[in-house]
Amino acid sequence: ASASSDEFCDARISYGDSGCGISLSSSSKILIKGGIVVNAHHQEVADVYIDDGLIVDVKPNIKVGDEVTIIDATGKFVMPGGIDPHTHLAMEFMGTETIDDFFSGQAAALAGGTTMHIDFVIPVNGSLSAGFKSYTEKAKNSCMDYGFHMAITKWDETVSREMEIMVKEKGINSFKFFLAYKGSLMINDELLLEGFKKCKSLGALAMVHAENGDAVFEGQKRMIELGITGPEGHALSRPPVLEGEATARAIRLAGFVNTPLYVVHVMSIDAMEEIARARKSGQRVVGEPVASGLVLDDSVLWDPDFNIAAKFVMSPPIRAPGHGKALQAALSMGLLQLVGTDHCTFNSTQKALGIDDFRKIPNGVNGIEERMHLVWDTMVASGQISVTDYVRVTSTECARVFNIYPKKGAILPGSDADIIVFNPNSSFKISSSAHHSRSDTNVYEGRTGKGKVEVTIARGRIVWLNGELKVVPGSGKYIEMPPFSYLFDGVDKADASYLSSLRVPVQRSKATK
Ligand code: URP
Ligand code: ZN
Ligand code: ZN
Ligand code: ZN
Repeated sequence: ASASSDEFCDARISYGDSGCGISLSSSSKILIKGGIVVNAHHQEVADVYIDDGLIVDVKPNIKVGDEVTIIDATGKFVMPGGIDPHTHLAMEFMGTETIDDFFSGQAAALAGGTTMHIDFVIPVNGSLSAGFKSYTEKAKNSCMDYGFHMAITKWDETVSREMEIMVKEKGINSFKFFLAYKGSLMINDELLLEGFKKCKSLGALAMVHAENGDAVFEGQKRMIELGITGPEGHALSRPPVLEGEATARAIRLAGFVNTPLYVVHVMSIDAMEEIARARKSGQRVVGEPVASGLVLDDSVLWDPDFNIAAKFVMSPPIRAPGHGKALQAALSMGLLQLVGTDHCTFNSTQKALGIDDFRKIPNGVNGIEERMHLVWDTMVASGQISVTDYVRVTSTECARVFNIYPKKGAILPGSDADIIVFNPNSSFKISSSAHHSRSDTNVYEGRTGKGKVEVTIARGRIVWLNGELKVVPGSGKYIEMPPFSYLFDGVDKADASYLSSLRVPVQRSKATK
């Protein structure tokens, strides 16, 4: 590998465009030959021709000249690169900052077959424009395409006006409301309603972190009073019922406003069933399970080693066995629609901030590098979903929901050349000693499974090949996401029929006696 001496130097990553063998040629033309090309709607054996960062052609037996880099994908799946709808890179949170910044988190993503992510801008003292500026700065060393959601943490005329600016001028089409984290990010129902109304008028998607923060606060007090101060207290203080309550409340309020809703990190049966019920009644609700919620269970929080238990602390918590299986089933049935990670990494010294009090353990787990492999192994290799559905839940549906399809999320002529070559007959093994995150731990430590991302191509550049990662700081592009995704189709018609139903005059006789 070739490594430069710049500040990002890391033994597992090489930088720049110096040669790493013939397949990493600097040619902008690439032909992926003979693979099974999979889109969410269809799969077929075909070649994929890439030039200048874009997919030019997808069909069998494409003939090219000899200046083209050829990748033989015979017997392998050629799929859209993953899009992770939920990450926190370089996030200041709970008195510290995530150990992965935009460069290291994205490098990890690329090594795991994810070629785009959407991160959450946290406002600075409630200011959206200051938050946007800060995150634009944080993202300067990006080596992968990215977009932004934005959190709303207070409400006034300025916030309302700034939401409009974010949507109309800054390429943001989604806003996250935290119903938990009392005393920091949490908002109340009045703000939630204002936010929902504003989102609706802008064609922006409202997102919720659904846990009842007041009840969590009460649950935490209860645990401390009982003398339960370790990581298990985190899970015990915020049980599934509090996630179910907040999910139900957010869904009902979004229904009352008649605006689409996206529920992030669905961790429990309780929350999932609320989403399923709402969808059954025709409401536009999207549910996002995350890798940790699908494959882990809460037994780890009782590990006698604090360092091990603490690394699994996230919110909502990883649940008892059974929840994960139910979330998998919901994903396979289409009751939940797409998979994120909530990648939000803290190393052991940061997690140790809560050694005496679980309330001080920074919340968050890794996953940006592992998601594609975990979803394949858990959902496809086990027979629960098809390969086309894999593409849908890891990439295409995210692109549709955030309105960047088919630029992203598809292998079609004209789409960005974000592509992975996946070998279903190989296998993966996860370990903090080999991963690309800066974290010294991994919540999937030691896990092995079927399938392996062998090649990652990000906007036409081969960045991952033969276990070697080659990324360029600053090469990632900010992807603007326009408002009024498909989720808004028909919202105006539903409003019109609601209003006309109210305007039917009630005939009352004048004399009442
Ligand atoms: O524990 C978590 N989830 N940390 C990240 C912040 C959030 O709530 O998404
Ligand atoms: Zn090299
Ligand atoms: Zn959250
Ligand atoms: Zn999150």
